[in-house]
Amino acid sequence: MATMPLQPRLIVATRNPHKSAEIQAMLGYRFTVLDATHFPNFPEIEETGSTFLENATLKAEGISRCVDGWVLADDSGLEVDALGGAPGVWSSSFGGEEGNHTMNNARLIREMAGKTERGARFRCTMVLAKDGTAQADFCGSVEGTLTDSPRGTGGFGYDPLFIPEGYDQTFGELAAAVKNHLSHRARALQQAVSWLDANHPKKII
Ligand code: IMP
Repeated sequence: MATMPLQPRLIVATRNPHKSAEIQAMLGYRFTVLDATHFPNFPEIEETGSTFLENATLKAEGISRCVDGWVLADDSGLEVDALGGAPGVWSSSFGGEEGNHTMNNARLIREMAGKTERGARFRCTMVLAKDGTAQADFCGSVEGTLTDSPRGTGGFGYDPLFIPEGYDQTFGELAAAVKNHLSHRARALQQAVSWLDANHPKKII
């Protein structure tokens, strides 16, 4: 009987199940994604940085001190032109409560009410770390515009308010496969996987 080759594992430094699910969907059979739910000893990492790179590095290095293997951290957020780039690195607590997407979206809708300048972008910085040290970082972004009310139930976070350039539906309305093809996260992840393939083709565990 033929046996399937063991997939290499990639530990994603997140407690956000949406992020790890998107990353697993984008990687397909290439890697098995593990996240905080698989590691009871996953430490809580305080995101004290003021840039996506600083926060992604804190998460990747902090988690890779506690687990064996390659760790990938994603720090991401929404930059809104009419708000001077806010909420940016503070995207997850914009509404006043960490990770509360309903409150975050409500504040964004309030702050954007009546504004004609609707440009925005999602940004993602990924850091790969091993044995407590960052080894490489990658950036991805996707430009778009903001709606004035939520549309669609797909994705997470600000997705129901964000229409990517070239489309007329929000990430909340578009199929997951479309978002996973062109998102900030997809663009950073493609580079991270290419880097692993080029630099550590046989050594990923
Ligand atoms: P982080 O966990 O500090 O990286 O926070 C990321 C925050 O940015 C999330 O809580 C969301 O508010 C927002 N965000 C990042 N990526 C996405 C996305 O793909 N869709 C919608 N919102 C996102």
